[in-house]
Amino acid sequence: MSYDVAAVRAHFPALKQGAAHFDGPGGSQVPDVVGDAVRATLVAAIANRGRITDAERTADGTVLAARRALADLLGAAERGIVFGRSMTQLTFDFSRTIAKTWQPGDEVVVTRLDHDANVRPWVYAAQAAGATLRWAEFDPATGELTPDDVARVLTGRTRLVAVTGASNLIGTRPDLRAIAGQVHAAGALFYVDGVHLTAHVPVDAEALGADLFACSPYKFLGPHCGVVAGRPGLLEQLHPDKLLPATDEIPERFEYGTLPYELMAGTTAAIDFLASLGGDGSRRQRLVQAMSAIEEHENRLLRRIEEHVRTLPGVTIWSRAQRRTPTLLLTFGRQDPADAYRFLASRNVNAPAGSFYALEASRWLGLGDHGGLRIGLAPYSNDDDVDRLLDGLGQFVRGGPGTGSIPASPGT
Ligand SMILES: Cc1ncc(COP(=O)(O)O)c(C=O)c1O
Repeated sequence: MSYDVAAVRAHFPALKQGAAHFDGPGGSQVPDVVGDAVRATLVAAIANRGRITDAERTADGTVLAARRALADLLGAAERGIVFGRSMTQLTFDFSRTIAKTWQPGDEVVVTRLDHDANVRPWVYAAQAAGATLRWAEFDPATGELTPDDVARVLTGRTRLVAVTGASNLIGTRPDLRAIAGQVHAAGALFYVDGVHLTAHVPVDAEALGADLFACSPYKFLGPHCGVVAGRPGLLEQLHPDKLLPATDEIPERFEYGTLPYELMAGTTAAIDFLASLGGDGSRRQRLVQAMSAIEEHENRLLRRIEEHVRTLPGVTIWSRAQRRTPTLLLTFGRQDPADAYRFLASRNVNAPAGSFYALEASRWLGLGDHGGLRIGLAPYSNDDDVDRLLDGLGQFVRGGPGTGSIPASPGT
């Protein structure tokens, strides 16, 4: 299947502003159809979900459509799709709910590779329950987090293991299937942070063995909200605090207050847009084809960038794992990555510097809280963007500014 990046780009009004965007891991640009769907839902007659008035049916239909779309994208069950404000909020909520089932002496595993949104909620939840926290550590030399690294900290008392599907700092994609096998053999739950992964590859949450799989539509061309796809059988057993009149059905049990219908409509539109980049068949089949085509496209651009960056003096590439997303973390010897960020920005090339909330990973790599320059590819990235990036990086290392200060990295 050929991938027509020019046709893709034509759908993104933001690209007409002229920047070359390598900031997708922090949040992607949005196609016109997503904006249209958000607006149409906001200005349509709408009420709380119900089946009596047209306005109620619109709200209800919007929710059900978004669940179907996410189930297709993630290879998950519709009844397991929980919407929330962000992955961070959902993970805090789930951590508190799941921790109600823990006893003092139980154990919880987090990793050094993960974004803090899949670390800190579990740290607090473990503390509150009197559970012991264990760390799975990746190899800073290779960037790999192996199944053995996780197995090493599993015991008969392990109740939950939280692992990223892909690092938003260095792109590492741990072998989730193998890890899931070990986690389940230990009798524990497997919580996967799929936020960075879902934007770049076909996902099959069920086949990966995730009991709960979190993602954020704003990373894959959609609006700013979060989603957890849970195994319905598991969700039935979990009991979050709830308002008395609120339904106890799943997934509604986990969705506090009135849902953001317009964002859900935008999420459906984003998934339909992605599916439109695939070939034939069901939406699920078209999504798998489209995400494979995007993966191939992004990897080709990634190889171009890597080959060139390796020739630049004094540049270290921290993204080294065998299997990874098209996300490169760079440092520049004595030159500050924040200066590279600012230098590139002055040329309208957006590639931010920081540790992007992957604080543990950045520290584990020896990069402290400062991190590096992150280059992320997206479905709309093209060769011209790459030319501009490589030109800018070349100029920077050959005499761009050496020092200076810039406010802390703005995002995640
Ligand atoms: C890997 C990863 N996990 C979690 C998050 C947090 O997602 P949200 O902004 O939806 O809370 C991010 C955001 O950058 C991320 O990259």
